[in-house]
Amino acid sequence: MANHTPKTICIFGGTGFLGRHIVQDLARLGYRIKIVTRIPESAYFLKPYGDVGQIAPIQCGYDEDSVTRAIQGSDVVINLVGILYEKGKAKFKKIHTDYPAMIAKICNDKKVTQFIHVSALGVDKSLSKYGKSKLAGEKAVLLAYPKATILRPSIVFGPDDGFFNMFAKMSTIAPALPLIGGGTTKFEPVFVGDIAQSIANLIANNLPNNENPQGKIYELGGPDVETFKELLERLGETTGRKRALISIPVPIAKVQAAFMSLAPRPMLTMDQVKSLKTDNIVQDGALTFKDLGIKPKAMETILPTYLACYRRGGPFGNKKAA
Ligand SMILES: NC(=O)c1ccc[n+]([C@@H]2O[C@H](COP(=O)([O-])OP(=O)(O)OC[C@H]3O[C@@H](n4cnc5c(N)ncnc54)[C@H](OP(=O)(O)O)[C@@H]3O)[C@@H](O)[C@H]2O)c1
Repeated sequence: MANHTPKTICIFGGTGFLGRHIVQDLARLGYRIKIVTRIPESAYFLKPYGDVGQIAPIQCGYDEDSVTRAIQGSDVVINLVGILYEKGKAKFKKIHTDYPAMIAKICNDKKVTQFIHVSALGVDKSLSKYGKSKLAGEKAVLLAYPKATILRPSIVFGPDDGFFNMFAKMSTIAPALPLIGGGTTKFEPVFVGDIAQSIANLIANNLPNNENPQGKIYELGGPDVETFKELLERLGETTGRKRALISIPVPIAKVQAAFMSLAPRPMLTMDQVKSLKTDNIVQDGALTFKDLGIKPKAMETILPTYLACYRRGGPFGNKKAA
């Protein structure tokens, strides 16, 4: 049902995995949406999610002028910009700390009503450069815009996700899959649609018990806590391609990661090996999905809907023959 509040929502990183789903949900609710991107053409595919003119790509760089122009006139700003590894000029500090700090400061200067910043679960304990830069980003955001709401999701699943699709593709050609550090790190995977719904609830101020989300951090985990190994086993069951799982000790994983880091889009980096040393689960006492009015969906209901294409013979293929 259309929401007639004429709010304008400005989304940094709206072309990405989370962004695509968030834009789709917010467009359905009738909001006007600006997609802030380095390459406007890369956001054109989002336009059909809305009516004519409802979704507008806006070109933006890292400079204060272009960020100010993008934010100008927005009621709500959402930051989804993130990287998994450093490449060239794209450094963790620049993307995860300095850029959100600049967005937050401009939101404050321009009196934007609401700023939602997406960070990541486990950053306050993480040993990785990724996690530390994200934590510094959270602090910088809250300093510049104290009313900001921060969301910390665990690993996110959904159609076109990075994690399950990558390992599912690997399992179509590889006889075995790697378990970095034995695969004992725990995760609490989150459905992308639940994050989109959380953001919609935050914008509509539709939270249980009149929860005030300003200046708060929400840790978002799904209903299942599973180790890396259990996730790959689940993947094998879902696609019908059960593969041997080979434990790779951390020192060996580091050597492999050092070589893989040289690739244009590395599948594994030294920093990611470090981040696997700490569990990625919601802490006791944290604010969670429940406080955002969401009952998170389980992997077993969602994974088969988009991983069936990896079955031998496609979605209707024979599970046993795979
Ligand atoms: N996916 C997960 O499992 C997961 C888990 C926990 C936390 N998160 C966090 O959630 C947020 C969104 O995640 P996502 O998976 O949707 O991310 P994504 O698809 O990898 O990227 C999001 C956006 O970041 C922008 N971006 C990428 N590299 C950039 C660079 N070098 N400089 C400036 N902008 C760049 C891109 O926007 P343009 O190309 O349009 O400029 C892209 O659309 C991120 O902050 C991520 O850390 C994700």
